[in-house]
Amino acid sequence: MTHMSEPETLLSVRDLKVHFPTDDGIVKATDGLSFELSRGSTLGIVGESGSGKSVSSSAILGLHRGTNALVSGEILLEDTDLLQLTDEEMRWRRGRDVAMIFQDPLSSMHPYYTVGDQIAEAYLVHNDVSKKAARARTIEMLDRVGIPQPDSRVDAYPHQFSGGMRQRAMIAMSLINDPSLLIADEPTTALDVTVQAQILDLLQDLQREFNSAIMIITHDLGVVAEMADDVLVMYAGRAVEYGPCKEILTHPEMPYTWGLLSSVPDLEGDTDARLVPIPGNPPSLLNPPSGCAFHPRCPHRAKVPGDLCTTQLPELTPASSGGEHVKRCHLPDPAAVFQAEVLPEIAPDLVADAAAATSKTAETTPGESR
Ligand SMILES: Nc1ncnc2c1ncn2[C@@H]1O[C@H](COP(=O)(O)OP(=O)(O)O)[C@@H](O)[C@H]1O
Ligand code: SF4
Ligand SMILES: [Mg+2]
Repeated sequence: MTHMSEPETLLSVRDLKVHFPTDDGIVKATDGLSFELSRGSTLGIVGESGSGKSVSSSAILGLHRGTNALVSGEILLEDTDLLQLTDEEMRWRRGRDVAMIFQDPLSSMHPYYTVGDQIAEAYLVHNDVSKKAARARTIEMLDRVGIPQPDSRVDAYPHQFSGGMRQRAMIAMSLINDPSLLIADEPTTALDVTVQAQILDLLQDLQREFNSAIMIITHDLGVVAEMADDVLVMYAGRAVEYGPCKEILTHPEMPYTWGLLSSVPDLEGDTDARLVPIPGNPPSLLNPPSGCAFHPRCPHRAKVPGDLCTTQLPELTPASSGGEHVKRCHLPDPAAVFQAEVLPEIAPDLVADAAAATSKTAETTPGESR
């Protein structure tokens, strides 16, 4: 599958598979994932817990190395296949070319070292500079991410920061070496709604300044609507819908995406959108359902002739709305079903905003208090 909505491709993932052999069989956490990301643009990867989002992004960072994971496919960063690098080469690129921010910085920051020492260390590893220069650069970055009194806060320990401040510090650490790709795995899930919006604004602002490509991983389509140029919806280790964000939010064609849209809490905290969780649970990736992995939960499979849904894995095929939007579903006329049955039920603001959005918001609101 090719998907090139922007001129310069930075990351190209092709047929990525991450399989874990276990005593009970092979867990196919990522099973043939392909996508592209342009320099400076944002891809949202969305799906429920257990759909393979973190496993896929960890593979890009090479974090599967030294584990029992079986990884195949290509992860091209510019012209380099990251899967072909030696462990040492990958370590060198991690934190310099590709950086990551996690959901909970407390678990990725060491409790016994100051925030400043940890950020400075990330800089020192990749730059031949004095400790003094690294500290100065750290203070500059803390200031840039909206931490007040950075020249004293630099000596604080992680537990002395609020959740939002820790996430800001983590962002400072991830961007200090000016990576071309930033992977943010559920970066705001642990934060309250107000702080979440501030952190997303900050990321967008810094993205413009640093021209980093961002892969943002989330279970929340609201976050995707706010941030992403493109969106990839994952289910059971595979892409089930992929394309420009605006297109997918206004003309989704895959029932799982419809389900996600119906369960989006409003980013501004308004409550008039109805929250309808998708019935049932995500499947085990050890023995995923036959055919379309979503079939046991899909309310629309009776519209598909015969037993296609339960016996044949749908290919990713172009959506009826055209463009670069693809979906994995057997429904003969998804656009009609969406209009008649789904649209009246889903978060109306989100779709209206997506339809209206031509550019993303530009403000930052730094400085939530701790
Ligand atoms: N080391 C491992 N061994 C076996 N299964 C794993 C391992 N790591 C992750 N998995 C499984 O892979 C699936 C996808 O996990 P993950 O990528 O963390 O999901 P997500 O980030 O979408 O919530 C899950 O079913 C998880 O249990
Ligand atoms: S292929 Fe069938 S079961 Fe899967 S999402 Fe489409 S209609 Fe539903
Ligand atoms: Mg995850």
